[in-house]
Amino acid sequence: MLAKRWMQWLGLMAALTAWTAAAGPVPAQQQPQVAVPGQQQPKKVEAKPSDPKSKPSDPRPKTDAKKVKSKIKVTVPEEDAELQIDGKPTKPTGLVREFVTPEIDAGKDYYYDFSVTWRPNNYTVLTRTKRITFKGGEDIIVDLSKPDPRNPDKAVVRWVPTPQDIVEKMVELAGVKDGDVVYEPGPGDGRVLITSVKRGAKKAVGIELDPKKAEEARANAKKAGVADRVEIRVGDALQVTDYGEATVIMLYMGDEFNNLLRPLFEKQLKPGTRIVSHRFTMGDWKPDKTITVQGEDGDEYVLHLWIVKEKKTSGKNPEKK
Ligand SMILES: C[S@@+](CC[C@H](N)C(=O)[O-])C[C@H]1O[C@@H](n2cnc3c(N)ncnc32)[C@H](O)[C@@H]1O
Repeated sequence: MLAKRWMQWLGLMAALTAWTAAAGPVPAQQQPQVAVPGQQQPKKVEAKPSDPKSKPSDPRPKTDAKKVKSKIKVTVPEEDAELQIDGKPTKPTGLVREFVTPEIDAGKDYYYDFSVTWRPNNYTVLTRTKRITFKGGEDIIVDLSKPDPRNPDKAVVRWVPTPQDIVEKMVELAGVKDGDVVYEPGPGDGRVLITSVKRGAKKAVGIELDPKKAEEARANAKKAGVADRVEIRVGDALQVTDYGEATVIMLYMGDEFNNLLRPLFEKQLKPGTRIVSHRFTMGDWKPDKTITVQGEDGDEYVLHLWIVKEKKTSGKNPEKK
């Protein structure tokens, strides 16, 4: 009797085991998680096929594909940088962060979108993004510690105004005169542009990310009676394609922002264009002139001037034999 009961129980267990196995692992597309070691509740992150065209035609995973996990190692620019994977925040900190994918199909193509945001100082926020494609099972190395010129960083600088007496000095240093066209990335309330047209510039253009500041700058230009010569655009100054129209560029944006502007200036600015920057430098571009002025508030202000040179032509002049 006891032996019979024992046999029945064993049979029940065998049936249960078979049922569990038949249920199988959740398809890769439905269980995309990045498990973060040491993290109690791992964040879920989508792992998608790298070819979007394959999605509609074959939405189901191959059930016979071997299941594997990929290890991910991400290097970020600063210890406390915020890292997102496919738009979802991750918890680990430090310069190198390790993750592991959920089980995915071996050899199948996947991608993740990585985005890192950090604050090099208390007025600048930088964001760097990168898409990494990989095959299921491959280890993934993601280096976000260096900029990628093909996919430049994004930057946002908080509003800090240049005092009006220092604005006057910037306009003086730039030598703004009749006929000049002044461009300013991040004009804030428009004071530099308004002062420039009052000193004779025929046109002044500001590219301002914050729509409220842009509105304020337009209102100030109207109040000053120069609205017909001041154009304020809402947008990212790092996306501008017509800096070449400027004869003068005015800046108060930070070293990091100025560095991101450099490739745009190198490509677009005409020789002879004057660039004046309140306080901040342009990487290893040596200023043509730097002055320190005493402000009415008693503080000292440093202003830099660069004059864009003729582009150096590379190689030999083909006409000279
Ligand atoms: C430090 S304030 C300088 C304001 C003004 N140039 C001055 O000297 O008084 C920086 C300004 O740039 C704007 N800004 C920040 N990031 C920007 C971006 N990526 N593109 C355009 N404007 C931006 C801010 O909204 C702010 O008005």
